[in-house]
Amino acid sequence: MESQDYNPFEALSEIALTINTLLDPTEVLARVLKVAVETLDAERGFVLLHRPADDELFEVRSQYNISPEQLGEIVRISTSVVREVLDSGQPVLVFETESDNRYGSSESIVVEKIQSIACVPLRRKKQQIGAIYLDSVTRRGRFTPTHLPFLSAVANQAAVALENAELYQSLRDENRRLRSEVQRMHGFEGIIGQSAAIRDVFETMTRVLDTSATVMLSGESGTGKELVARAIHYNGERKDHPFVAVFCGSLPESLLESELFGHRKGAFTGATSDKKGLFEAAHRGTIFLDEVSELSPRMQTSLLRVLQEGEIKRVGDESTRRVDVRVISATNRPLKELVGEKEFRDDLYYRLNTIEIELPPLRQRRPDIPLLANHFLDKYAVGSRDYVNGFTPDALEALRSYSWPGNVRELENTIERAVVLARGDSIHADDLRLPTDDSVLPAETGLPLKEMERRYVLQTMESYEGNVTATAEALGVSRRWLHYRLKEWESRDE
Ligand SMILES: Nc1ncnc2c1ncn2[C@@H]1O[C@H](COP(=O)(O)OP(=O)(O)OP(=O)(O)O)[C@@H](O)[C@H]1O
Ligand SMILES: [Mg+2]
Repeated sequence: MESQDYNPFEALSEIALTINTLLDPTEVLARVLKVAVETLDAERGFVLLHRPADDELFEVRSQYNISPEQLGEIVRISTSVVREVLDSGQPVLVFETESDNRYGSSESIVVEKIQSIACVPLRRKKQQIGAIYLDSVTRRGRFTPTHLPFLSAVANQAAVALENAELYQSLRDENRRLRSEVQRMHGFEGIIGQSAAIRDVFETMTRVLDTSATVMLSGESGTGKELVARAIHYNGERKDHPFVAVFCGSLPESLLESELFGHRKGAFTGATSDKKGLFEAAHRGTIFLDEVSELSPRMQTSLLRVLQEGEIKRVGDESTRRVDVRVISATNRPLKELVGEKEFRDDLYYRLNTIEIELPPLRQRRPDIPLLANHFLDKYAVGSRDYVNGFTPDALEALRSYSWPGNVRELENTIERAVVLARGDSIHADDLRLPTDDSVLPAETGLPLKEMERRYVLQTMESYEGNVTATAEALGVSRRWLHYRLKEWESRDE
């Protein structure tokens, strides 16, 4: 007797639709098993698969309606059936177990009162990879030969979907491994990027590593200045000595002075003992002067003296002490302009600026955006969220075209939040919660439209590092159109 809603075609098409989109082998198995059990009105089931790298051993990789305590027992008593399927490569049906000659005598089946069993092999390219087992304890003759084509079709589908999912996983792992390999070969650990702009940065960093030249890092907020400062220190010859970071803007002048240079006991109220300053603490290492543009004129003068003499004087002390410290400074205000406005000493500026490394804003190195996004995805999609494993094409496009005023820091925060908001295994564009961008138009108004078009196109082109295909895609125009315009502007400029 068939259950009333036995509909193998519907079930098969459901399997085809759902399991081919699943990318996790465990989920594939669970879904297949559930559909098979429900369609055939079985009560329980499990899927056995080869242990990787062991031809003889099979293990249960998915189960339905079987508690962990029952599992061992059921596997044990079904061994004879499963063995036959695996050995013969043929499906086996046991209906009316008590009268079936082959198994009627098998005491264990009688004991558990399993009335019917259906078991089909899982094959991949003629090779046995496992089996799907279903049973019923309530009805004899639950499974009949008419069910076999359906079950075999399910098994075939399952084997294909499983192979897809396994392939996908191994590609993903390989991809991750290669990504970090490439990164190690062409950059600094933890600094992601392969755009021409960031490679220039790596190149300069490499050249200053084993020198003590002062380095000035400039760039908008969140572009990675501190990250680069640390990388220079930890990859250079001073790495076994301290890296000391100082926020020049956070303390009033007098405190900052004693922080940096130390003080003598009694030098001022509260100076209850001698104290070493940060310059001394950083001896033979690196001091990182963050927001150096915030230094008061007096501090600028003291700092200049340290840089020129290589020695410091603790506050309230007459004697000087030699310090060997490499200075890396950072600013997100255009220091050169401050020099022009006499807010920053030009002699100090030149001292700090022996080597300048300018960190490009993210919108000028768009090829790095997907790399960074994936890097942060790997970082935040962990623990209970590790099923989040990619971006939809729309989401990637949104990431690529946004202007990122807060640069890499903003991108990192965006991905961290999106991982929390994502409802499936992919991050969608609306999970990103990107503000609507209205800053794309030039600040200038009253420009002829043609001219605005020219500037906007060239600016976009620059941000894609001259890549015509990517630029055309971002602008929603054809490559031909873009080539044509570029030619036109070129000839006009001549
Ligand atoms: N190329 C990069 N690869 C990976 N992470 C990056 C990169 N650039 C920046 N980050 C990350 O972005 C965040 C901001 O970087 P960082 O603090 O170095 O910026 P900053 O330039 O010092 O910013 P601010 O001027 O606001 O102090 C950090 O979490 C950092 O790890
Ligand atoms: Mg910083």
